[in-house]
Amino acid sequence: MSKITILGIESSCDDTSASIIQDGVMLSNVIANQRIHEEYGGVVPELASRAHQQNIIPVVDAAIKKANLTTKDIDAIAFTRGPGLLGALLVGTSFAKGFALANQKKLIEINHLQGHILAHFVKKDIDDNNQPAFPFICLLVSGGHTQIVLVRDYLDMEVLGSTIDDAAGEAFDKCAKVMGLPYPGGPIIDKKSKLGNPKAFTFGKPKVDGYNYSFSGLKTSFLYQIRDKVKEDSNFIATHIDDLCASLQSTIIDILMEKLKKAMKDYKVNQVAIAGGVSANSGIRERLIDLGKRHQWSVFLPEFQFTTDNAAMIAITGYYKYLKGEFAEQNITPKARFSY
Ligand code: KG4
Ligand code: ZN
Repeated sequence: MSKITILGIESSCDDTSASIIQDGVMLSNVIANQRIHEEYGGVVPELASRAHQQNIIPVVDAAIKKANLTTKDIDAIAFTRGPGLLGALLVGTSFAKGFALANQKKLIEINHLQGHILAHFVKKDIDDNNQPAFPFICLLVSGGHTQIVLVRDYLDMEVLGSTIDDAAGEAFDKCAKVMGLPYPGGPIIDKKSKLGNPKAFTFGKPKVDGYNYSFSGLKTSFLYQIRDKVKEDSNFIATHIDDLCASLQSTIIDILMEKLKKAMKDYKVNQVAIAGGVSANSGIRERLIDLGKRHQWSVFLPEFQFTTDNAAMIAITGYYKYLKGEFAEQNITPKARFSY
């Protein structure tokens, strides 16, 4: 049987990425990060679109070359249709449509969130079988989303709960800003947490129904506590930064794990995965491994290269949609908001 080769394109936020996946095995995954946003303390949509426009052709070219293939070897092009920044998505969508039309390839639209979850199925080589079995529950934690997803099959997912306000990544980033740390704050808080006492400070935890989350109250509680302490001691943040980071991170993890444990129990699932940018967090990883041991769960942690946005996750989702014959038409347009 001939091989199925998918070119994946990701351009939903501030990373331009292209990847080649052949029969589920990753041959290349090229990512161009956009440094430009650092000086603004967050992603500037218009600048992101322009950088995608500059990056997309060299990135696709590099992905094809790195895979040792040529355009004619590609069966289909899969692209992120949403959710994400509309102008950024438009660059990837337009490129994919043009590429499909010019080279007579099939076109596949991808939900970015589904991609984050299916990143767990990207194989490093043909014998790589370390993948979750269905059904499993995935905790999807990124800068824009926080969801508990029941995954029944590759393309059969149900959102059991999600945040009603801020995402977990936003809680990290916004609290980091309060402490005067640069964007994105999540990785810095993670690093400083290792040196601090997680019990030094107590912050408010939300009460939300079902499997839903809320993080805006935590942000407010954090802000108010710091503001009061800084009034008494202007050096408060500098002298307590490690303890503040450790206590904040530990609170975020407590909030995330409480609902995850509930979902695992209620749905009688024993396989759990984590995905999205925040899944790089060392504290979350440790806590999940520990919970797995206590509850006899199989725990799946993504490789670091698959925690942030990447096109391999888009290409692998494209591979499973290809197998089911789910193709898009040339008149397709991107969608900033997207459900499963
Ligand atoms: O999935 P992602 O790359 O982009 C979105 O689709 O949103 O996630 C970015 C988020 C940012 O909020 C960043 O602070 C957070 O992931 N993040 C982390 C860590 N690494 C990245 N948060 C906590 N600990 C980390 N180690
Ligand atoms: Zn993402």
